[in-house]
Amino acid sequence: MKICAPEHLRCEYLPNPLGVTMAAPRFSWILSSDRRGDRQSAYQIIVASELEIAQREIGDVWDSGRVESERNFQVPYAGEPFQSSTKYFWQVRWWDLNGGASPFSPTVFFVTGLLKEKDWKAKWISKREHRVFRTKGTVILGEHRGEYIQSHAIYFRQDFEVKPGVKRAIAHICGLGYYELRLNGKKVGDAVLEPAQTDYNKAALYSTYDLTELIQTKNAIGVVVGNGRMIKSYGYDQPKLIAQIEIEYENGGRERLVTDDSWKVAFGPLTENGIYSGEKYDAREEQPGWDEANFEDYSWGERAVTVQGPPVDSRLLPPIRVTGLIRPKSLASPEPDVHLFDFGQNFAGWARLRVQGPRGATVSMRYAELRHEDGTLNTSSNQNAEARDVYVLRGGGSETYEPRFTYHGFRYLELKGFPGEPTLDSVEGCLVHTDVPPAGDFSCSHPLINQIHQNVLWGQKSNLMSIPTDCPQRDERHGWLGDAHLAAEEAILNFDMAAFYTKYLEDIRLAQKEDGSLPDTVPPYFGHLYPADPAWGSAYIILAWNMYQFYEDKKILERHFLPLKKYIEFLRANAEGHILKKLGKYGDWCPPGSIGPKKTPLELTSTWFYYHDVAIFSKIAQVLARNDDFRSYGRLAEEIKEAFNKAFLGEEEYKAVHISAADRLTNQTSNILPLYLEMVPAGKKAKVIARLLHGLEQDQDFHLDTGIIGTRYLFDVLTQNGAFEAAFRTATQASYPGFGYMIAEGATTLWERWEKLTRGGMNSHNHIMLGSIDAWFYRAIAGLRCLEPGWKRILVNPPLFDGLRSATAAHETPRGEVSVEWERGDNSLQLAIAVPVGAEAEIRLSLLAEGTTLKEGGTVLWENGKPSQSQPEISVSATEGGCLVISIPSGQYRFSLTK
Ligand code: BGC
Repeated sequence: MKICAPEHLRCEYLPNPLGVTMAAPRFSWILSSDRRGDRQSAYQIIVASELEIAQREIGDVWDSGRVESERNFQVPYAGEPFQSSTKYFWQVRWWDLNGGASPFSPTVFFVTGLLKEKDWKAKWISKREHRVFRTKGTVILGEHRGEYIQSHAIYFRQDFEVKPGVKRAIAHICGLGYYELRLNGKKVGDAVLEPAQTDYNKAALYSTYDLTELIQTKNAIGVVVGNGRMIKSYGYDQPKLIAQIEIEYENGGRERLVTDDSWKVAFGPLTENGIYSGEKYDAREEQPGWDEANFEDYSWGERAVTVQGPPVDSRLLPPIRVTGLIRPKSLASPEPDVHLFDFGQNFAGWARLRVQGPRGATVSMRYAELRHEDGTLNTSSNQNAEARDVYVLRGGGSETYEPRFTYHGFRYLELKGFPGEPTLDSVEGCLVHTDVPPAGDFSCSHPLINQIHQNVLWGQKSNLMSIPTDCPQRDERHGWLGDAHLAAEEAILNFDMAAFYTKYLEDIRLAQKEDGSLPDTVPPYFGHLYPADPAWGSAYIILAWNMYQFYEDKKILERHFLPLKKYIEFLRANAEGHILKKLGKYGDWCPPGSIGPKKTPLELTSTWFYYHDVAIFSKIAQVLARNDDFRSYGRLAEEIKEAFNKAFLGEEEYKAVHISAADRLTNQTSNILPLYLEMVPAGKKAKVIARLLHGLEQDQDFHLDTGIIGTRYLFDVLTQNGAFEAAFRTATQASYPGFGYMIAEGATTLWERWEKLTRGGMNSHNHIMLGSIDAWFYRAIAGLRCLEPGWKRILVNPPLFDGLRSATAAHETPRGEVSVEWERGDNSLQLAIAVPVGAEAEIRLSLLAEGTTLKEGGTVLWENGKPSQSQPEISVSATEGGCLVISIPSGQYRFSLTK
């Protein structure tokens, strides 16, 4: 049998990354095999200094030799230290279960960043004088944060020559808040909105580019730098740039070009630019050739000044890119000189304009999610974000413009001042987000669920801007931690989030204060949001734990263990008798009819998250074999649980805020949370479940009455407690409040509020926090879940419920792709499953084992209530409750079940 070479090679979660700075980066690969139950018995990694050497299968930099191990991911490099700005080539092969060797994989590479601080020779530079402009500031939770004072874009240029025989040219660059790098007249690479956002008082992330193919003898580098978040209102100073280009010659010589005060600096056609306000671009100010060699830069009399800047680190997450183009669906003119395009989809990004007209003609482009009844643009949900890009034509032919240092959340685009009559071809929508690779796929026989899933995907993409954001349209777009963790499982199931969250956990760590507290938003651009609501601060532990659960990344747990402990201790210091009375601010945010948590007491939510965090923290300690912490935090969790029940549990339900003595309705969230974590004492659990179900059915007619926190856990709790049908009815509820209502009202993403609100106030139409339901689709509708870290053990458990005929889900695990596809007939079930090499699955079919015939391929496995002829690798048994349990190792399977 042919043994296939490893595929899907990754270094630190990324394909061919540039800017690797760790001493021991980790390598991962994926195996495929036609043989069921195949396993990697050993691997060999080689790292070479040249492609040809790697292809000769020589690891002159490192050769792991044959290592007996099943591990196919996050295998750390263990060779000699790397050199900065150097390209390394690597490949891997494996030995299968029987010791047969595969060929080596194709050769891939990584490029190192600047490994030591002293390797950085470049200086931060800026412009001596800035031209400022003012825009509206953010109103955050009702509080005015003052206006934003920002700078016109700065243009930097430098000429340089190289000698013949360049082997490699590597650039490391960061421009704060946003930059665009150009070389010899062209933009370098396809990343936009660089660099990734961080707290610029603590760290800035540089990107690494391979310029080898672009370098000529005479070169010019041009960099445009804009504001992004690098503004005074967030406690920063002016936009600035740092760049270092390392040239390596064939003969071993090296040379470098660094930013310093010899760089020229000027203003240019891009003037005002703000994340919220949009940008102004006057094409009459363009200087063709400014970023090319032989440009006569007489008018560039000014030299850059060196300035202070933050420490830099490498960007090791996928960049933001334009990942798709969206054509407008319709065009109307609701008023003279006003043209309104409808893209038919809410998304984040901007419009690309095609225009022809006289020099100086000025086109204004405004963006919004909504449209008034009279067909004009409704910008109410943008709040203080002006969301306007202005383009002044150079004249004399066809012109194309798109903004570069701003983005918008929108479905509608308004053009004013367009010379002539625009057509549907005059604009296209650019979909913009961190380009995380897709890692999941889901669909089922219920069209509404599929539509919700699509809305979630659009919403999720709209809210990945190098940090997880709350929304893309209004004057926030911040890393609200609550929103981040609520959507995290959904994001991980749909996209490869490993590198993204690795970076974001670092952002959270940097945001922690000495006393252990965290802010509500990370990066903490709003410095005042400390300490976080515990329901928000929990993101730190949830994201770290998810990295372990889904990617089996233990290194993350180690890295964050002490700061997490500090955070837990901060919570402990604020607890009174184990109850968190003071830290809550938002709690079960945005339930129907409200922004604040209405019925769910803040201290209940806060204390529940305290318990949740301590319980997980003790598990983390266990994974890391920190046994004292495992035990002592385990005990603390028990004590919190007891105090929680004492404080909040009544006869048969948990405490809620009631508006009067006559208000006896059961509150959903108060009961969902303790049920989710199995906190309810055995004697009362059945009563609490019964109350919850009674309330859901009798009081709410299968409508949820939850905010973002309760919604996250509601569907799982119902499913775990045998009420899948109630969960399904609530999830597919067509009337208010519910997902079906949103969609019936035209939502193409998910709203912030359950209500359709189209005036001012908090009414974003593209928030991701309610997207948590999508993880339940994978888990409960497709019936696919991860049982052991890194999907080592997988559970497949399709719901047997008349409202669903079929479902399919696939997910890219660290061990390879797992997929499930099931379809029901009246008395039958077809189930196809693929389990990746190195994993195993347990299938649970809650059909009465009696009277059922189970086949795999053509073989009967179960008949007349007992196992029949067996396939050696498949084991089948029945539980007392009559559920068939099938255990399988890796491989492809087709089961059929008939009654
Ligand atoms: C954001 C939310 C966030 C919340 C905190 C809002 O303004 O948009 O999504 O979690 O504030 O309460």
